[in-house]
Amino acid sequence: MPSSPAHLSRLLEERKQKGLLRRLHVAAPVVDFSSNDYLGFVFNNLISKELAGLDYSSGSSGSRLISGNSSLFESLEKDIAAFHGAEAALIFNSGYDANVGLLSSVPQKNDLILYDELIHASMHDGIGLSYAKHFKFRHNDVSHLAALLERHRPHFTEIYIAIESVYSMDGDSAPLKEMADLARTFNAHLIVDEAHAIGVMGKQGSGLCDAAGIADSCFARVYTYGKAMGCHGAAVLGSELLRTYLINFARSFIYTTALPEHSLRCIQTAYKLLADQTMQEQLQANIRYFNEKTAGNPHFIQSHSAIHCYVLPGNERVQAMEEKLQAAGIFAKSIKSPTVKAGEERLRICLHAFNTFEEIDSLLNILPQA
Ligand SMILES: Cc1ncc(COP(=O)(O)O)c(C=O)c1O
Repeated sequence: MPSSPAHLSRLLEERKQKGLLRRLHVAAPVVDFSSNDYLGFVFNNLISKELAGLDYSSGSSGSRLISGNSSLFESLEKDIAAFHGAEAALIFNSGYDANVGLLSSVPQKNDLILYDELIHASMHDGIGLSYAKHFKFRHNDVSHLAALLERHRPHFTEIYIAIESVYSMDGDSAPLKEMADLARTFNAHLIVDEAHAIGVMGKQGSGLCDAAGIADSCFARVYTYGKAMGCHGAAVLGSELLRTYLINFARSFIYTTALPEHSLRCIQTAYKLLADQTMQEQLQANIRYFNEKTAGNPHFIQSHSAIHCYVLPGNERVQAMEEKLQAAGIFAKSIKSPTVKAGEERLRICLHAFNTFEEIDSLLNILPQA
């Protein structure tokens, strides 16, 4: 074996010493309170069942701009745009690619990006690749965002506000109406990542922007298909102009092999499945039940989404709690610092349509109440 750069083992050893070494594991068949399969499309094999017996190509043979495009791509994008009430949609290979492509290509040198301190790593990476200046605002803090807009508006050509409608590590929701109002007042462009809202919130799972009545106020919305939608890929929604711009300038769109037909059929089927709202109603019933059971418990971050967080400060404590649950056949993932701030370590509990009230009771009975 050729030698490796010395820092590989040094940095891994440092992580191990801090108890933070990341490892891949194969999920054992336990009660699932950790996956993003909120509606159970994967758990119940719903998409695979719909597509059973159909023979779809395994590859697309090239990037969208060379040989990978198809009439299916084009018609699916039109359907996605219509479903979410947007002018146009552009499919990316993942939510990561969508956020990186959007945020790295649209904001320019004399522009400013104001972003919530808890946005996802993919938005951070896109921002990091752009030439725009960027400042964070305190999580969901409308006054802080307003103050930053007030101070910086005169000094930049364009301003972008980057937020999530449901935050992936806290499960809470952004004050969308207030933020859309600010964007309008300061002539800023609102970008909303709906990764954890699609399928879960809004009419037929169309997302929180639609439910809050601010879809038309968004410059761009990002919908990902690897969570409640039970498949893979993502779409950026906005104007035709934005779609054409991304096709020309978003490098994570241009320089990669397009999704295969099979992936597109899965996305198409996931949207069809949203029409039957049974799964969404079951999930909402579980969310209501969970909130009733945990009302007044100071450990929990308030949430109306599928993601609920039990804050248990200390990496060792939260790891020990994950292991205690696992011993009882329950899997909820511990989220440690520095992924979250020190002192805010937590168990991230994802609720699903397929979880039963008994499973929720078993989980809550193990967690200390005060
Ligand atoms: C808020 C948010 N945006 C984007 C992504 C990335 O999506 P994908 O898994 O499709 O790359 C994730 C997933 O981890 C996410 O939580």
